[in-house]
Amino acid sequence: MKPLRKAVLPVAGLGTRVLPATKSIPKEMLPIVDRPAVQYVVDEAREAGIEHIVFVTGRAKSAIEDYFDRAFELETILRGKGKQDVLDALAKVLPEPGTMSFVRQQAPLGLGHAIWCARDIIGDEPFAVLLPDVLIQGKPGCLRQMVEVYEDKGGNIIAVDEVPREDVGQYGVIDPKTQDGRIIEMRGMVEKPDIEDAPSNLKITGRYILQPEVLGLLENQETGAGGEVQLTDAMARLMKSQPFFALQYEGADFDCGNRLGYLRAITHYALKHETLGERARMMFEEALK
Ligand code: G1P
Repeated sequence: MKPLRKAVLPVAGLGTRVLPATKSIPKEMLPIVDRPAVQYVVDEAREAGIEHIVFVTGRAKSAIEDYFDRAFELETILRGKGKQDVLDALAKVLPEPGTMSFVRQQAPLGLGHAIWCARDIIGDEPFAVLLPDVLIQGKPGCLRQMVEVYEDKGGNIIAVDEVPREDVGQYGVIDPKTQDGRIIEMRGMVEKPDIEDAPSNLKITGRYILQPEVLGLLENQETGAGGEVQLTDAMARLMKSQPFFALQYEGADFDCGNRLGYLRAITHYALKHETLGERARMMFEEALK
């Protein structure tokens, strides 16, 4: 079994559900308390042992690349002012040289197409996919929990979670066969089903560990839900020839791609913040009076 070293973060999406906030900044750079959303996802990947991150970007997304680079002018000014604590905070989020790649998805053809755009950098290795719209609070992080299952079982692993029945049409949904604790074997999966056709209320949450063969399937994947090339459809095909497991992870997920989900993420992360949490709680209580 090849070790899991690489992760793909698809960040080409336009963020239309949070406009106008995202008109001139990528949605992945919206702050959650004191860090951009993408930082939480990169931290989750690093905690799970990921060494190299491939961002699939698009036009108007260069702020993400700049965020993970040195900022010499800023650093010079901060040094001149003796702001060592801020410099230390900046140094902490700087990746090791050569541990991030950026490829462009030139047209919005779907999540499956975005992942396929990373194929040359992924090569012949298993890889993780983390959708940066989705933040997951978990201890250990969701991908770390998945890696533990992967090291035991191999194959492909996706994170799933229950959603209210009326929401299944917004997600990829699995068709469960058998369950052993938190690990589920599946018959199949379907992207954005009609409520009456949904095989369960277990949604695919946006964390995946996949074998490289899925990239070959994406190469000739027909368009599916929404007229887009869907990762779910390629995984459903891969499932016929490889072991595939779903993990009901422990933790809470927040969809920052919509306004209420974003707000929910901010309140939860503020309350859990190591230095601001207590004062945030007092502020929320005050605001509710
Ligand atoms: C994507 C996936 C879907 C998954 C969802 C999680 O959908 O295609 O299977 O359930 O993310 O947020 P999207 O939100 O891009 O429409």
